[in-house]
Amino acid sequence: MKRKYNIGIIPGDGIGRDVMRGAVMVLDTINELTDEFNLDFLKMDIGEMAVKKFNTPFPEETRKGIARMDTVLFGAVGSPYDFTVLTEIRSGFNLYANVRPIQALPDTNAIQPKADIILVRENTEGLYTGVGYIDRNHHVNLRIFTTKGMERILRFCFNLAAAKGRRKVTFTHKASVLKYTDAPMKKMFYEIAAEYPDIESEDAEIDACAMRIIMKPETLDVVFAENANGDILSDVGGGIIGGMGFTPSGNIGDSMAVFEPVHGSAPKHADKNIVNPTATIMAAKMMFDYLNETHTALRIEEALKAVLVEGKVRTYDIGGRSSTSEFAAAVCDKMRRNWTRSTSESSH
Ligand code: IPM
Ligand code: MN
Repeated sequence: MKRKYNIGIIPGDGIGRDVMRGAVMVLDTINELTDEFNLDFLKMDIGEMAVKKFNTPFPEETRKGIARMDTVLFGAVGSPYDFTVLTEIRSGFNLYANVRPIQALPDTNAIQPKADIILVRENTEGLYTGVGYIDRNHHVNLRIFTTKGMERILRFCFNLAAAKGRRKVTFTHKASVLKYTDAPMKKMFYEIAAEYPDIESEDAEIDACAMRIIMKPETLDVVFAENANGDILSDVGGGIIGGMGFTPSGNIGDSMAVFEPVHGSAPKHADKNIVNPTATIMAAKMMFDYLNETHTALRIEEALKAVLVEGKVRTYDIGGRSSTSEFAAAVCDKMRRNWTRSTSESSH
C-alpha cells in the first residue's frame, strides 16, 4: 500500500508566493513519479492575504489546518506580521529546533564552496519571545532560558549529529558575560556531551564563531546558537554560500515540523517570477528527510545540483536570466530523467 502524507502549503506574502509555486511544481512531479507514497496538499493562508480574508495574519483555520498535517511547507511572511506569525508558529507548535544548513551547492557564487555546516538555532526561548517592559528610562527585553528548553535543544544537537553522521557539535555563547544563561548552559552542554562519546564537542564564543563561519567553515560541523544569535548566524551563513536564495530551514518539534526558506518576503521582487526558489526546494528536500523518505530527498538534491552544474537555467542572483518557474521546471525535468525504478523503489 502506498504511504500517504498530508502536507500543508502556506505561500504567505511577497516572494513566498513565487518560491512556493516553484516548490509545488517539484512536489507535484514527485507525486506523479513515485509509486511509494501519495502527497495530499492543503493550502492555507497567512499574512496579508489572511488579513484580507479573516482579519488576522494567523487565522484559527490555518492554526487548525497545520495541526492536522504531517508536515508543512511555508514560503514567507512580510512585515509587519512576520514576527507575530513566525513566533506563533514556532512557539505554538513547540518547534524548538530551527535547523538551518549552511551548505554550499555547486556552481553558485558561494565564497566558501566547501561549506557544509548544520546550524541549529534554538527557536522558542531567549530574546525573541519579546518579553520585556519600559519603565521610565529602562528599556528591557528579557533573555530567558529554561532548564527544560536548554536540555532539549542540546540533546537535539547531539541526536542530530549522530543521525546525520556528523563528527562534532560546537556550542556558541558568551558565557564570560552572560552568567545566568550562557554560563549554566555551557556547563550542561559538556554534561550532555559526555553521553555522546563518539561525537566531538567544543565551545566557541559567538563573535569568534561568526568569523570562523566566514573564514574557516570547514572547521565547523553542527553549530548550536541560541535564538537571537542563531538568527544572525543564519544570515552570516547565507553570506558565504551565495546568498539567501540558498538557505533552507526546518522548524522541528517532537511531533510537528514546518519547513521554510530562511529568507523573508522581499516585497520588491514579489510576483515577478524572478527569484531563486532553491532555498524552498531544499526546504522541501529537508521535509522528505523528516518524513523518512530519504530517497526522495536525495533525488531532489541531486536534480537541483544537476541543474546548477549544467548551468543553462540560472536565476538572476547567479548570473542568469531564467525565471523562478523555469528553474523549478528544470529541476522537475532532471528528476523525471533520473527516476529509474532501480534506484527508487528499492529500500525504505
Ligand atoms: C528568520 C527571520 C525571523 C526571525 C523574523 C522575521 C522574526 O528573521 O526566520 O530568521 O528572526 O526568526
Ligand atoms: Mn532571520
